[in-house]
Amino acid sequence: FRRLVNLHITLLLYRIYIYLTPLPEHTNELFRGVLGDNTWVLSSLCSNLMHYLGLSHHLLALNFIIGSFGKKSAWSSAQVNVTDTDFDGVEVRVFEGPAKPGEPLKRSVVYIHGGGWALASAKIRYYDELCTAMAEELNAVIVSIEYRLVPKVYFPEQIHDVVRATKYFLQPEVLQKYSVDPGRIGVSGDSAGGNLAAALGQQFSQDANLKNKLKVQALIYPVLQALDFNTPSYQQNVNTPILPRYVMVKYWVDYFKGNYDFVPAMIVNNHTSLDVEEAAPLRARLNWMSLLPESITKNYEPVVQATGNTRIVQEIPQLLDARAAPLIADQEVLQHLPKTYILTCEHDVLRDDGIMYAKRLERAGVEVTLDHFEDGFHGCMIFTSWPTNFSVGIRTRNSYIKWLDQNL
Ligand SMILES: *[C@@H]1O[C@H](CO)[C@@H](O)[C@H](O)[C@H]1NC(C)=O
Ligand SMILES: *[C@@H]1O[C@H](CO)[C@@H](O)[C@H](O)[C@H]1NC(C)=O
Ligand SMILES: *[C@@H]1O[C@H](CO)[C@@H](O)[C@H](O)[C@H]1NC(C)=O
Repeated sequence: FRRLVNLHITLLLYRIYIYLTPLPEHTNELFRGVLGDNTWVLSSLCSNLMHYLGLSHHLLALNFIIGSFGKKSAWSSAQVNVTDTDFDGVEVRVFEGPAKPGEPLKRSVVYIHGGGWALASAKIRYYDELCTAMAEELNAVIVSIEYRLVPKVYFPEQIHDVVRATKYFLQPEVLQKYSVDPGRIGVSGDSAGGNLAAALGQQFSQDANLKNKLKVQALIYPVLQALDFNTPSYQQNVNTPILPRYVMVKYWVDYFKGNYDFVPAMIVNNHTSLDVEEAAPLRARLNWMSLLPESITKNYEPVVQATGNTRIVQEIPQLLDARAAPLIADQEVLQHLPKTYILTCEHDVLRDDGIMYAKRLERAGVEVTLDHFEDGFHGCMIFTSWPTNFSVGIRTRNSYIKWLDQNL
């Protein structure tokens, strides 16, 4: 009972905190973002409550609540056929768009949804609508992967799922079944899905059998590194709704089945302090003073601790694994990547992950388009229909689909 009372007090304080959080400019759009965020906060509190009551892991419960808002079953229209099936044991939802007159073979995108490696689904309304629009407007086949989530599985199982499903799809007989042009296939994803898409891209470009199988990769506000939680965008958006910094750090810890006690230390970069030898060789790949333009670094100062907590990367070595943090991969890995699109948003802790990756790819000789939205916020691209029809949601989606149309 005392726990319940405590929880209610926390709930109240949290709501007051959310209302008092200072809002950046573009308040009109963001105000609605905050309203959305409140539903989110309520959902997370309900799920925390269920967790306290011993009903379920809080992420499972949260995902259940999100799902109950709008998982759609497979459906069909005159334009798009949607089917749920599995590719080598991994669930997928396939969206078959209309063929272009005179072009029997279609283009294709393998899509990986976001949600912190723990939330959402290819079947919720937001992702279903996005993939439908892509299938229709690109005359394409979109394979949206229903990979398994935390806490059912942890890193690197999410990667294994998306790799397994994609390899299956790339087989000539499967492509033929879906009338897909083998030379015009891309991989894409948003947020944690952008992280998995980037990891998949790197793995494929290293595999002689799979090299050159992907024509493009398109990463939407991707999560790309866990070494520095004080990039200018992390500093600037520390409390920005939808994805405040501590929430992002917790998603990372959850992905690795790590200990939440490390979160406060990670927030001040104690896990990559100068006395952490394992991090030393990777530091140059993340030096944002050299990777980011002055218009982004402004007066922000790097946060580098002389001494920190050497236990963190010993207990969670995955933090330094390039499969989890594609931004820290070797230059030799980057140079074989396909043509790349990266979308970033100003009001997003992850903005600089994307900008730094674009810079490193460019230096490795990869053709990159960096598409930045000054009024964008994390997650905006899936908010395109009423009542969450943000103008920036519609503009980001149009810009993304246009790039695919011109490059795939
Ligand atoms: C959807 O499936 C129906 C029945 O199999 C077929 O006639 C139609 O052409 C398909 N439409 C698309 C867009 O693939
Ligand atoms: C970071 O590490 C320093 C040195 O060990 C320690 O004094 C400080 O309390 C740590 N900060 C956090 C937030 O853990
Ligand atoms: C959102 O949809 C409503 C209802 O269709 C419309 O009135 C409004 O203008 C739309 N807002 C944006 C930003 O597109």
